[in-house]
Amino acid sequence: MDIAHKTAVVTGGTDGIGLEIARQLMAKGASVIVCGRRADRLAAAAMEGMEAISADLSSADGCDQLVKKLTGRPIDILVNNAGMSGNFGPGEPIDLKRTDQAIFLNLNAPMHLIGALLPGLLARQQAAIVNVTSGLAIAPNGGSPVYCAAKAGLRSFTLSLRHNLKNSNIRVIEALPPVVDTAMTAERTEKKMSAKDCAAEIVDAIVADKKEANVGMVKILRTVYSVSPALARAVMIKF
Ligand SMILES: NC(=O)c1ccc[n+]([C@@H]2O[C@H](COP(=O)([O-])OP(=O)(O)OC[C@H]3O[C@@H](n4cnc5c(N)ncnc54)[C@H](OP(=O)(O)O)[C@@H]3O)[C@@H](O)[C@H]2O)c1
Repeated sequence: MDIAHKTAVVTGGTDGIGLEIARQLMAKGASVIVCGRRADRLAAAAMEGMEAISADLSSADGCDQLVKKLTGRPIDILVNNAGMSGNFGPGEPIDLKRTDQAIFLNLNAPMHLIGALLPGLLARQQAAIVNVTSGLAIAPNGGSPVYCAAKAGLRSFTLSLRHNLKNSNIRVIEALPPVVDTAMTAERTEKKMSAKDCAAEIVDAIVADKKEANVGMVKILRTVYSVSPALARAVMIKF
């Protein structure tokens, strides 16, 4: 897809991987609309030339708020990037409110936004839907059951939706980041990919009309999984 003159919506585009995707789409000539909650981040994105919309996508009402602001706008690219961990430690009681929010933000919100924006996307000459999942969508780890479940659900939804839309103008892309250096991974100590490098691989996948952006180490996970799902699961569960 030629990005120039396209209009892109990037959820969670005010920080981390989403902000870098937004910047790189802008650098390729797109008009970019980002959404998030924090006013300071939204203001900073606006200062960079993005249109910034405030919405909390962890509920249906929040998704509706964003959709209302996008109604009638010609959207070519939808990047469902906003996510949260919703994890709980070993033996800790499960915080059900946080669990529901995490499932909604990671899984339901992309479905709500795709559902609402699909007629508009189908009317464009070329369009793309990018769902940001995770390497953990391929094989879960033991530390984040809720997150892994939501991301695996989004991966499955994405695979099915791609088939569903195969004869349409819409490219359905899944982006699977590895561990990336953002606020979400602040407590992790291992080597992390930069958000800028991760976003570059995702934007390259949009440009090249790829089905998947298996970013960094996820390429290796994907290969191991294709040879032996059991081995990939055994390694990842300890991760
Ligand atoms: N970092 C990693 O290692 C990693 C690995 C694999 C996959 N991923 C996935 O990549 C995506 C981006 O992750 P990241 O690490 O860049 O996250 P991040 O640095 O924590 O940024 C999250 C972005 O989403 C926004 N956001 C959070 N909760 C929101 C809500 N309820 N409604 C609307 N916006 C919300 C944040 O802004 P506000 O807080 O202002 O709302 C921010 O712009 C996520 O889907 C994540 O699961 C990340």
